[in-house]
Amino acid sequence: MTEAKPWDRLWIGGHLATMAPGGDPFGEIRDGAIACRNGRISWVGREGDLPGSPDRLAREVIRLEGLWVTPGLVDCHTHLVFAGDRSGEFEARLQGATYEEIARKGGGIRTTMRATREAAEDELVEAATPRLRNLLSEGVTTVEVKSGYGMETETELRMLRAARRLGDTHPVEVQTSFLGAHVLPPDFEGRREAYLDLICEEMIPRAVEEGLADAVDAFCDEIAFTPQECERVLRTGLELGLGARLHADQLSDQGGAALAARLGARSADHLERTSSEGVAAMAEWGTVAVLLPGAFYFLRDDSPPPVSRFREEKVPMAVATDLNPGSSPLNSLLTAMNLACVLFGLTPEESLQGVTVNGARALGLHRDRGTLENDKMADLALWEVDHPRELSYWVGKNPCKGVVKDGESTLSLSAAGRPPHLRR
Ligand code: NIG
Ligand code: FE
Repeated sequence: MTEAKPWDRLWIGGHLATMAPGGDPFGEIRDGAIACRNGRISWVGREGDLPGSPDRLAREVIRLEGLWVTPGLVDCHTHLVFAGDRSGEFEARLQGATYEEIARKGGGIRTTMRATREAAEDELVEAATPRLRNLLSEGVTTVEVKSGYGMETETELRMLRAARRLGDTHPVEVQTSFLGAHVLPPDFEGRREAYLDLICEEMIPRAVEEGLADAVDAFCDEIAFTPQECERVLRTGLELGLGARLHADQLSDQGGAALAARLGARSADHLERTSSEGVAAMAEWGTVAVLLPGAFYFLRDDSPPPVSRFREEKVPMAVATDLNPGSSPLNSLLTAMNLACVLFGLTPEESLQGVTVNGARALGLHRDRGTLENDKMADLALWEVDHPRELSYWVGKNPCKGVVKDGESTLSLSAAGRPPHLRR
């Protein structure tokens, strides 16, 4: 009879950046080992402290040969599903047009709306797939995807269905946010109230009924929706059991951060123009600050979010790509980490916290994901680096050598080549 082994898989011969709060920087465990059972982490610690010989402890033992292991990365703010692109508007901006001017003339988000309304669900999935694969190849195991380019019921729901399908067909946890309140669609010009009625009375209830949304989001800005309008949308979602997020204080300070905090939103996102009162409210309510350096960079913004105030007030900071065709065509979470350091002054450790423990918190998933700790899901990224700070250092280099999702290896860049879902 073969001996029963307590663990399914055990990784040895590497180093861990557990990102568990309260310990060494990066939650570092040199010469660490980590094991999983039934998809969850069943042991994590120093290899020398293993309670027996590796081969007796696990059915499969993986030798890391010096690689570093971090939690699988979390991209907690993306607009991954959309049709078309806005490279023409990019050219116009390089000639001097501003993002707001383009939006006011009916372009911007409305340009993508027109393309997305035309696209079938299959086409949306097909367009988003290579973008998702790029993220996965960089160690991402959880990604949030927003609707918001339909601004009519059927297209909004179609975007969310496409996002769910991407999650069903790829080794990634997909969290969806309903963003019907992105901008006012042209068909409702002069009838703002009617559009909000449609969102609150039809779109959100249907997204909830069909299990398509995990959270509700809105764009609080002069070119989008007022704080009062966003409050109505977020409250409707919250009452129906969704989490809440808010695009807040990006182009102008609307008091969005404080609104998000007061409503109990999981996060306020962007925050380039958030006031000290906004930061204090976020600290009081435990709201995560989601920093989106891709949009700051791509729009050539000059007002960075108040990072030192977030630090002082102990507001958790997440970092995400904001991947979208207009303000942040950034298809790399590693690059977002570098931009967060260079443009916003985060430390490499804060930046890695931003895409692990704090990214998971922004999605309400921190009990299950975001750190390498016992009983969390075994989502791991394996890196060929000498130190985890390197993940924020290189630009345009991907040192990811393997990914594990719920305890299963999904990406290995060894001689065996890329696994099928990552082959093109
Ligand atoms: O997060 N700020 C609003 N929404 C997106 C931009 C979407 C777009 O321009 O298509 C953002 O930056
Ligand atoms: Fe966004």
